[in-house]
Amino acid sequence: TALVARRVKAWRRWRRALAVLRDFEESFATPAERLQRVVNSLAIEMFAGLASEDASKVRMLLTCVDSLPDGSEEGVYYAIDIGGTCFRFLKVELGAGSTIINQKVENQPINEELTKDTSEDFFNFIASTLKNFIEREGDEGKALGFTFSFPVRQLSITSGSLIRWTKEFSIEEADGKDVALCLNEALARNGLNLQVNALMNNTVGTLALGHYYDEDTVAAVIIGAGTNACYIENNEAITKCQGLLTNSGRTVVNVEWGSFRPPQIPLTPYDICFNNETRNYYDQGFEKMISGVYLGEIAGLVFCKMAQESDVFGTDVDGLATPFILSTPCLAAIREDDSPDLREVGNILEEHLKIPNAPLKTRRLVQRVCDIITQRAARLAAAGIVAVLQKIGRDGTRCGTTQVRRMTGVPKRSVIAIEGGLYQGYSVFREYLNEAVVEILGEEIAPTVVLRVMEEGSGIGAALLAAAYSSNRQDSI
Ligand code: GLC
Repeated sequence: TALVARRVKAWRRWRRALAVLRDFEESFATPAERLQRVVNSLAIEMFAGLASEDASKVRMLLTCVDSLPDGSEEGVYYAIDIGGTCFRFLKVELGAGSTIINQKVENQPINEELTKDTSEDFFNFIASTLKNFIEREGDEGKALGFTFSFPVRQLSITSGSLIRWTKEFSIEEADGKDVALCLNEALARNGLNLQVNALMNNTVGTLALGHYYDEDTVAAVIIGAGTNACYIENNEAITKCQGLLTNSGRTVVNVEWGSFRPPQIPLTPYDICFNNETRNYYDQGFEKMISGVYLGEIAGLVFCKMAQESDVFGTDVDGLATPFILSTPCLAAIREDDSPDLREVGNILEEHLKIPNAPLKTRRLVQRVCDIITQRAARLAAAGIVAVLQKIGRDGTRCGTTQVRRMTGVPKRSVIAIEGGLYQGYSVFREYLNEAVVEILGEEIAPTVVLRVMEEGSGIGAALLAAAYSSNRQDSI
């Protein structure tokens, strides 16, 4: 009877873990109809943001890019790409006729200290690393592109001030500074005879490369450490800052969709608890549900809750309470483990969460949690993409401010350039996203939309835009 009592207790505890899973699964559900409403509200916020930044949850930043590379650019260009997890230094040799003759990329992981230090140290580090890179390459290059993947109020193609950091960066005194000027000063301090010829967001670099290869490219999306999109907008639609727009007719707009908070998606206890741990409390809602800085941490919080309610992780679970203990690459590896005994899941539990010898049913539970988080993230990113298509009238519907209705006729082919480790490196995420795009658009419209991965898009695109803007070419998009 003692054995029976023990078994009953264990069974009850297991049931409590399953109850946590069930609640969690329900609260993370994104059925098609809810996703469609997310699409509509993001599209509406985009309209609002074009009228006034204050009236909208997305900033819709004007990028000063009204001309994209057209394939005639030639010569050697450098680019610096500052993303979320590493600095990239690029040398790109362009030949006429949209040919990239040569490209060299050097990666430098970002030391966490540097993301909290002073802006002088931050930009000095970048400038001195670029200097070493150029010295090794032995070629000065014609111009420099600078991809700075944070919200920037662009003053011209060569200058712009940081609105605020995202993705857990926090060099406070950099807020409001002209980041191109900071880099130019650091380049001069390091004796480099180069200045920023084009400053841009990573989405904009990716769009430039996408458009270089395929003129049907209308937008670009990043799904990596952070998430965001930009697209080509008609100037008449941009009712704010009309005086600042050129006559070219079109301008690239940086949506900064990371700050969107989809009202249809409930903030779960995990999202709330997790917001308390991050730097931009309650901001960047969409980004925190989708991108690489955050997904692993959501899983960590769910495991913590399960460990409180049951003994599925054993009794020594202190490690689970450490914030950001599980990285998103680990979450991806857990979800992608298809071995019969989920060996990789076991290894990650042991190595990263200090939970040795987890039984198979615990491993399955862990994998299920990672799957649910991945699905919500990928489906929301898909909704974001369709919202951009809706904004430019390429989703087969017409978006008014109050209603969305089916339009007749199939839209033109639209290519969306995509970059970012989460989309490129995590196949399950990619499949969920691609499926959800088809689900929302429907079988008739979906074939007109092409999601095209742009390897190194944000960096190569920066070199391309530096080339386009340092020549006197006046073409427009
Ligand atoms: C964050 C930044 C945004 C960037 C995105 C992807 O959302 O605010 O500018 O494009 O991350 O890296």
